[in-house]
Amino acid sequence: MTYPGISPAELGEERARDHGGMVIVLDTDPGVRWALEKGLKRSGYDVRTASTSGEALRLLYAEPVRAVIMEILPEADLTPDVLTSVLESPSRPKVICVSMESEPKAIIECVRRGAADFVPKPFNLNDVRAVLRRALASQSEQRVLRRPGSSKADMESSFLIGVSHAIQELRTIIHQVAQTDLNCLIRGESGTGKDVVAREIHRLSARRERPFVKVNCTALPEQLLESELFGYEKGAFTGALSSKPGRFELANNGIIFMDEIGEMYANLQAKILQVIEHKEFTKLGGRKHIHVDVQIIAATNADLEAKTKEGSFRHDLYFRLNEVCIWVPPLSARREDIPLLVRHFVQKHGGFGAGEALDISGDELARLIDQPWPGNVRELESTVKRWMALGKSALSTSNRMQEGDPSTQDGHEPPSGESAPPHIPVQAQRTETERILDALEKHKWNRRKVSEELGISYQTLRRRIEKLRLDRRR
Ligand SMILES: Nc1ncnc2c1ncn2[C@@H]1O[C@H](COP(=O)(O)OP(=O)(O)O)[C@@H](O)[C@H]1O
Ligand SMILES: [Mg+2]
Repeated sequence: MTYPGISPAELGEERARDHGGMVIVLDTDPGVRWALEKGLKRSGYDVRTASTSGEALRLLYAEPVRAVIMEILPEADLTPDVLTSVLESPSRPKVICVSMESEPKAIIECVRRGAADFVPKPFNLNDVRAVLRRALASQSEQRVLRRPGSSKADMESSFLIGVSHAIQELRTIIHQVAQTDLNCLIRGESGTGKDVVAREIHRLSARRERPFVKVNCTALPEQLLESELFGYEKGAFTGALSSKPGRFELANNGIIFMDEIGEMYANLQAKILQVIEHKEFTKLGGRKHIHVDVQIIAATNADLEAKTKEGSFRHDLYFRLNEVCIWVPPLSARREDIPLLVRHFVQKHGGFGAGEALDISGDELARLIDQPWPGNVRELESTVKRWMALGKSALSTSNRMQEGDPSTQDGHEPPSGESAPPHIPVQAQRTETERILDALEKHKWNRRKVSEELGISYQTLRRRIEKLRLDRRR
């Protein structure tokens, strides 16, 4: 068991963002009760401890309780049945289960019955604080939403959910990067959560009160992207009726998140490198040097090393961006995370409250866990969303697309988690595949030409190639 050291700086930071209220710690281990009581009190919570379910239930019936952190033991006193009693007690608390067992089976049972989260033992205090804050956040969402500039989407995407070892390591490295000004490269397959990681770094960094500006490097043609990034002066080009600041200027003192950096135009790569090296740039059509202090987080699922070898990505930029590299593993490598993610997406798209049991059997959930998930968390989210809209039939693989995920078949980029109507006939999809393949072959895989010919954006084309796995037919 690891008991965390608690630094005053860490406490100050945590206290400012915790919400307080009564929390019960139900655990058979006196050391755990002591550590959690002490640590959570210093974060501004009122804490009561209990070593048996009876004690905890008495407390739950005596006064309002916001959350229970409860040990789950395979047998003996603290079983998932007790969890149900705790959840149904008058306070309707959020429950966080902790257990030595981190097998999917244990997690499935807790999450199905309505636990808000699950923390495997041994844990450290910061992990528990983070999940507690997240569990309580939905209650105080209104308060957070009133903060200028924050939206529901920001809130939802700013939490990294998962119990796997990989996610725990990810949290540690996110904390470390957030303490620095180092540029960071986030890598991983599409849909693994790279955006979430970038926002999480911002949320935890000293720059959190400063802007987080996202740029999608493939969304625009070169000139437009250039003017978006660097801004322009009045008269810089036809149509520039007034001057406009670019994203770098808007991100000053904050973080700029450059998504799909591997696809960045060569000319703009050079300009970005200059901003990194000199911390300044000029607007299009301007002469004044604008000084900026930005931390750059870039994300890609491309093989940047291969791109530097073949010359389509600059070596020097690669090294400057890659001061720290964060690797987000595919969902299939961390299946323990699936039950919690399912619960999270059910709450997000089904609209029912935390604490309610999931309408899914252990077997159904286990089948979801066993699926391959080539589209990673994004695909899982689309599946849950379809389930919420259309019922359970949407969960079975035979009803899902055989090639790729229908969420990206609708011709324009879906907002994250957005999905199209599910039952696109397979035949139509085949034709689509063939149409794109023909065009790709015709233009020797020049994607820009192909996107022009097909009348879809470059980005949509890239997503389709990826989702339909056309690269493999090359
Ligand atoms: N660990 C996670 N916890 C909660 N939501 C997640 C997690 N990973 C991904 N998501 C959600 O899945 C969707 C896809 O994630 P995203 O960060 O956009 O993936 P990527 O940028 O790697 O393609 C988003 O809706 C995001 O909020
Ligand atoms: Mg992304």
